Amino acid sequence: MPEKGFQQNQTILETREITMRFGGLEALNALSFCIAPHQIVSVIGPNGAGKTTLLNAITGVYSPNSGEILFRGMPISGLKPFQITARGINRTFQQVQLFSNMTVLENVMVGMHPRTKSGFWDGLFHFASERREEKKIREKAETLLDSFGLLPKAYWMSAHVSIADQKRLEIARAMAGEPELLLLDEPVAGLNIRETEAMGDLIIKLKQTGQTIILVEHNMHLVMGISDWVIVLHHGAKIGEGRPEEMQKDSRVMEAYLGT
Ligand SMILES: Nc1ncnc2c1ncn2[C@@H]1O[C@H](COP(=O)(O)OP(=O)(O)O)[C@@H](O)[C@H]1O
Ligand SMILES: [Mg+2]
Repeated sequence: MPEKGFQQNQTILETREITMRFGGLEALNALSFCIAPHQIVSVIGPNGAGKTTLLNAITGVYSPNSGEILFRGMPISGLKPFQITARGINRTFQQVQLFSNMTVLENVMVGMHPRTKSGFWDGLFHFASERREEKKIREKAETLLDSFGLLPKAYWMSAHVSIADQKRLEIARAMAGEPELLLLDEPVAGLNIRETEAMGDLIIKLKQTGQTIILVEHNMHLVMGISDWVIVLHHGAKIGEGRPEEMQKDSRVMEAYLGT
């Protein structure tokens, strides 16, 4: 539920001057921006620009050296990843991180567990209430897999489906936690043209259900085709932001990409 005073048309996520250092390297340099809800906001920039570091800072994998991150107006910097997930932010990874020894269905069910009610004692004695809950979780996971086109492979081991399916499955697992903000780190890396188009359609479909999405991606055709807003990073700093068509002709952005 939105916090008191939070309006749907306001900023859902804000970073204020966040800086993240690794030794002498500033992976993020006083980075500030705001994300409006129900939009696809892409974060682009050359390799090493700090895009993944930004997602790690938002999700609590890293705690920024300075600055603040606000989610629905509440500071989240310094919280642990599981606390941030519980507040409504889920993600996928640049290198897919599925449970390879589990089925496709089980991977999605795992994504749902934090929201279920059965506690420690229920688990210990495997009460009927938990079995009922397990059944509900399974049915919900199947519905989700169906909407991602993965139901026919529900009982495959996740390591045995294609990379494209693994990438879709990772998004399905993230969506299983019903996040308000979904972060995608290079969802089409390694996919062919047809798979990339299908992924673009899927991301648009998620947006149409009201999902807010931060997309980190190198594929400019995809970024320019589906984004509402584009933020450009270079050496950890923001060098531009705007509508895709504005960023495409921005001279600083061109320079960063051409390396001049
Ligand atoms: N855990 C880490 N330790 C040291 N340096 C890191 C770490 N994570 C990222 N970096 C460095 O921070 C910079 C930004 O990396 P990253 O965020 O992965 O870039 P991008 O995702 O835009 O390609 C790079 O120079 C990278 O080597
Ligand atoms: Mg990266």
